Amino acid sequence: MAKKTDLIPLSVPNLIGHEIKYVVDAMKSGWISAGECIRKFEKTIATYIKIENAVACQSGTAALHLALLALGVQNNDEVVISTISFIASVNPIKYVGAHPVFIDCDDSLCMDAEKLEDFIKEKCFFDGKILINKLTSRRIKAVLVVYIFGNVPNLEKILDLSKKYNFKIIEDAAEALGTYYKEGSLKGMFIGAIGDVGIFSFNANKIITTSSGGIVVSKDEKIMSKAKLLSMQSKDSSIYFIHNNIGYNYQMTNLQAAIGLAQFENLEKFIKIKNDNYKLYEEQGVKLLSFNPNIRSNKWMYSFLTSKRDEIIQHLKEHSIESRPIWKPMHLQKSYQESFCYKIEKALFYWKQIVNLPCSTNLTSENVKKTSKLVTAF
Ligand SMILES: Cc1ncc(COP(=O)(O)O)c(C=O)c1O
Repeated sequence: MAKKTDLIPLSVPNLIGHEIKYVVDAMKSGWISAGECIRKFEKTIATYIKIENAVACQSGTAALHLALLALGVQNNDEVVISTISFIASVNPIKYVGAHPVFIDCDDSLCMDAEKLEDFIKEKCFFDGKILINKLTSRRIKAVLVVYIFGNVPNLEKILDLSKKYNFKIIEDAAEALGTYYKEGSLKGMFIGAIGDVGIFSFNANKIITTSSGGIVVSKDEKIMSKAKLLSMQSKDSSIYFIHNNIGYNYQMTNLQAAIGLAQFENLEKFIKIKNDNYKLYEEQGVKLLSFNPNIRSNKWMYSFLTSKRDEIIQHLKEHSIESRPIWKPMHLQKSYQESFCYKIEKALFYWKQIVNLPCSTNLTSENVKKTSKLVTAF
């Protein structure tokens, strides 16, 4: 067995920039909770994805909670989501008293837009204003699109359906900062800034990190000001402590934002490294799942298919290489076994076959070659 220091981790932060300097500067200023780095970080992310405003918060999960609340998703509404996602995409639907409806993924690993249309046509009723699930009699308020590993579904189709059937689009772009369309009808648009409201995560395993953190983004100023208010205890008057609504203590701290500002300076460099290492794995004979050719993807995480998922993960572990299966589908998780599901097939195949390989931006070419050799020889 290799020594712990030889471990090749799955996805770890790469703190090669001004992180320490910016955090120390923020500490010296005394502003460790609120502070100007937060506003600067919000503006930086917003400008990057070509919108006006963003609301930085404690985590991607908190960002999703705020996004749902700001969009007006309410008790007893339904939100359609692919069963292949991390559970943090689904739990906030429950936080607001709404219900997830699980549908299948397609070969992008994201929501199957064709099946979304079939679900609407077969199982729903549209009265010209509201889309209703015929079986549950609940309103379908929104579709929550998750960009798995930095890839995209057939978003053009989902956008068309949202116009036709009057539902909102929430983008869970937790894993996809930096992914944008370079071709097609969405050319030039950044993931996260296309639907009604979007979120990113800055958890330590993401392409850039703030240790823990997230951000809500939207072109709609009303949604943004609602999200901001909710993230700061719904304080309508800071002098007289007037709170007209239930709020949350979700605002990002100044120290987190300071890390984020330093990380952002290397974002494009990190995306290039992700793309270069993806290419290197392929050159070494590992057949990775592909990304939509119409996007410049951040290629956050690499996956390949194998009928020996658990054996390979164990084999790599014995050589001190971290790998993992994709998440157990959400409709099979204990809390969601009673939820409404529609024609889930592909998700089960991918769940049993996918292995994710090391993808950190400080991965060396020797790391990639060593991992590839073990995988291809297995
Ligand atoms: C798809 C997806 N959604 C939501 C989240 C939640 O983000 P966070 O961990 O920052 O709460 C994550 C990652 O952690 C994620 O991968």
